[in-house]
Amino acid sequence: MKALWYDRFGAASDVLIFGEIDDPVPGPGEVLVRIHASGVNPSDVKLRAGARPGAVMAFPRIVPHSDGAGVIEAVGLGVDPSGMGERVWLWNACWQRAFGTAAELVALPEAQARRLPDNVSFAEGACFGIPAMTAWYALFGDGADLAGQKVLVTGGAGTVGRYACQMAALAGAEVITTVSSEAKAVHSGAETWVNYREDHVVEAVMEFTSGQGVDRIVEVDFGANQATSLEVIKPGGVIAAYASAASMSPELSFYPFMFKDVTLRMLIVYQIAVEAQAKGSRALEDWLEAGKLTHAVVPGGRLTDGAASHDLVAAGNKLGTVVIEV
Ligand SMILES: NC(=O)c1ccc[n+]([C@@H]2O[C@H](COP(=O)([O-])OP(=O)(O)OC[C@H]3O[C@@H](n4cnc5c(N)ncnc54)[C@H](OP(=O)(O)O)[C@@H]3O)[C@@H](O)[C@H]2O)c1
Repeated sequence: MKALWYDRFGAASDVLIFGEIDDPVPGPGEVLVRIHASGVNPSDVKLRAGARPGAVMAFPRIVPHSDGAGVIEAVGLGVDPSGMGERVWLWNACWQRAFGTAAELVALPEAQARRLPDNVSFAEGACFGIPAMTAWYALFGDGADLAGQKVLVTGGAGTVGRYACQMAALAGAEVITTVSSEAKAVHSGAETWVNYREDHVVEAVMEFTSGQGVDRIVEVDFGANQATSLEVIKPGGVIAAYASAASMSPELSFYPFMFKDVTLRMLIVYQIAVEAQAKGSRALEDWLEAGKLTHAVVPGGRLTDGAASHDLVAAGNKLGTVVIEV
């Protein structure tokens, strides 16, 4: 099959190779999926760059990209063959595995290939995995009922943030988001927003909540926003943080958070427990089926454009998920 891979960390144009490798074979409990679209996430790009703390090549050759969409072509031992021919969206294809979706074929556990309704394109399905599961987990992973709650989604124009704004609203919450421009506010789809670079976030959020503070924060940069979060979180509130890029080990204001009885959830999509994975996947499938979610595809060219697509994600100013057509 044709694939994109790297065998050492480095700049995208230095290490990403396009060529032919052997087709994968689905093992027991796995499905083989013919990929139509491969989504590029910041984590795929950071992994390839060797930017994670203590990074070592876990496999001699890595085919990148966790997310994608395609059609089940074959199944391994123990998997119901009636699923063959089904359109699916994929997630976590690369987690503790060498071969992801930047290829014509991928083999992965059947639970990570979920039905893609006909009303959702392959490109849209490739946007879905990590961003949508992360947004779901941050909002609902602790079993919360958000109806009537007030939720702050920081960075609502990001791939995770945009889904979080939509899902919180679908669950009956009132949403306020932070963005860095009007264009990003429109992209987020949230009705209420504040420009965190130019305006006073605390004032805007307190006005939005009639001085009460928000019940939940879905946080894209815990360290950068910690002081603001402390001011705007309601006593007993939850901060669900999925990144802290500006400062990877920020100092924690323990007592101020403690005196507000705040729950801090540091979450990672790769470690969602099996039951929660199933619950989240079902919820996402229902929303997809009902056409309740919108997706933002940024065309990333073909597999031969792999380095450019990684650079586009690293630049950080795209609006949506960079998707490679396979
Ligand atoms: N823990 C997990 O499981 C998990 C899952 C998915 C992603 N992530 C991580 O989460 C981060 C975002 O991922 P993504 O795919 O959503 O990236 P993305 O599409 O590039 O979006 C990031 C968004 O965050 C905004 N932003 C950056 N700093 C901000 C701040 N201090 N306050 C408010 N908004 C801010 C950016 O807008 P401006 O630059 O215009 O402000 C941008 O819209 C990445 O570091 C990624 O690796 C973690």
